[in-house]
Amino acid sequence: MQTLVPVITIDGPSGTGKGTIAQRLARHLRWHFLDSGVLYRVVAIGAAMHGIAESDTGALSDFARQMRVVFSSEFESSITLEGMEIAALVRTEEAGAKASIIATQAPLRSALLQRQHDFRQAPGLIADGRDMGTVVFPDASIKFFLTASAEIRAERRHKQLINKGVNVSLRTLLNDIQVRDERDSLRLAAPLRQALDAILIDTSGMSVDEVFSQVITQVGRLNS
Ligand code: DC
Repeated sequence: MQTLVPVITIDGPSGTGKGTIAQRLARHLRWHFLDSGVLYRVVAIGAAMHGIAESDTGALSDFARQMRVVFSSEFESSITLEGMEIAALVRTEEAGAKASIIATQAPLRSALLQRQHDFRQAPGLIADGRDMGTVVFPDASIKFFLTASAEIRAERRHKQLINKGVNVSLRTLLNDIQVRDERDSLRLAAPLRQALDAILIDTSGMSVDEVFSQVITQVGRLNS
């Protein structure tokens, strides 16, 4: 039965390391992985490809329900939308910003709900996003909420982009992060917030290994 498949949710703003931790946990447990932000990013890209306005909620929701999106592996090395490879586009700052704008629309969020639930397959699912523990999988076995200061998140993103050869100022990134946080947290539909029963981890002064070890300790408690 679908409801018996366990889910662990990892929510929080971007740049907290939640994507890295969620993927690592999925590999460690050999569970499935859902990066829900990618779905919003794919809709944003698809809308641009089809000339759908960001404000056209009806058309966006129809597109979200019908789009043919294929993840070649659960870890997103390849993502095709209607047969076109879009993995590189999905990861751009622009796609993230557009995703955040369209994600404020409740009908679009409802249209993506079933797709997210479909990822709940045995033996279990690690779900990464903003509203995984609050809205999409409120019955998750264990919920994490990762935070870090906006300055630290901007510095992390800056390092990643510089390593990729993308030149962007730290100030611009910090500003983008603050705008996105505000929009994601203040929207009426499924805003970014910590579930009452989520475990809070502030990753500001922590390495990925340290965060992972805290997460694993909590997950271990679940099974004991
Ligand atoms: O995690 P991300 O950067 O890929 O997410 C991009 C945007 O998508 C994010 O700013 C808000 C939206 N999003 C959302 O509203 N709900 C989710 N569960 C995941 C992402």
